Amino acid sequence: MSRKPIIAGNWKLNNLSSASVELVNEIMDGVKNETILPEIVVAPVFVSISAVNDAIKKCGCGKVKLAAQNCYWEESGAYTGEVSVPMLQEFGVEYVIIGHSERRQYFSETDEMINKKAKAVLEKGLIPIICCGETLEQREEGITDAHISSQIKGALEGISKEDVAKSVIAYEPIWAIGTGKTCDSTEANRVIKMIRNVVAEVAGAESADAIRILYGGSVKPDTIEEQMAQSDIDGALVGGASLKADSFVNIVTGSVK
Ligand code: PGA
Repeated sequence: MSRKPIIAGNWKLNNLSSASVELVNEIMDGVKNETILPEIVVAPVFVSISAVNDAIKKCGCGKVKLAAQNCYWEESGAYTGEVSVPMLQEFGVEYVIIGHSERRQYFSETDEMINKKAKAVLEKGLIPIICCGETLEQREEGITDAHISSQIKGALEGISKEDVAKSVIAYEPIWAIGTGKTCDSTEANRVIKMIRNVVAEVAGAESADAIRILYGGSVKPDTIEEQMAQSDIDGALVGGASLKADSFVNIVTGSVK
């Protein structure tokens, strides 16, 4: 099965609305003459989503899709400060990043919460980008695979095979995020193959073959070609290098070389 690659930019807590619009416009301009492209996804902060959606619609090129960095699983109600999936959908959001390590670490998100969010996203026909990854301590202790396998099983619990097949997973070793220390490509590929085996165990071989699994953690223009040359890496979730249009565009074009 050939899986369409995805390059997703996670803008994290950066950029006022005007800067977000400028960035997405520069990205769309940077890829306008390219014909072979991966799926390109950008994830601005909640309050910039509407403005970025307008910019995407205005361009009309259809080359860039919109993601949110988080969501809540209930549709509405007394949940002060939360944003639900239909509210994101209203503004053109097609993907939702779920369970990023920063949310697990700073906002105490558990596998159970991540599972509820993934289900809520899929129920509305959006695509979750489910993040997993080990800390440096876990890697040194030799429990990387066990930890990630339990994160994946928890996140996918009770989700149908069809929905698992549509989902996206991002393997992001925490020690590689924002540190400039990229995980060796062959090791990233080994872990991603292991994740695919876990998906096969819980949702069958067909879903495991279809699901797209990205690598994230200090992805840069000069690392992407080697990463994409690996058998099981289907794209990248990019933080720091997605905040400048030229480096993000170079990652996008480098991913399909
Ligand atoms: P980074 O972030 O590319 O800055 O390492 C990746 C991420 O956190 O998604």
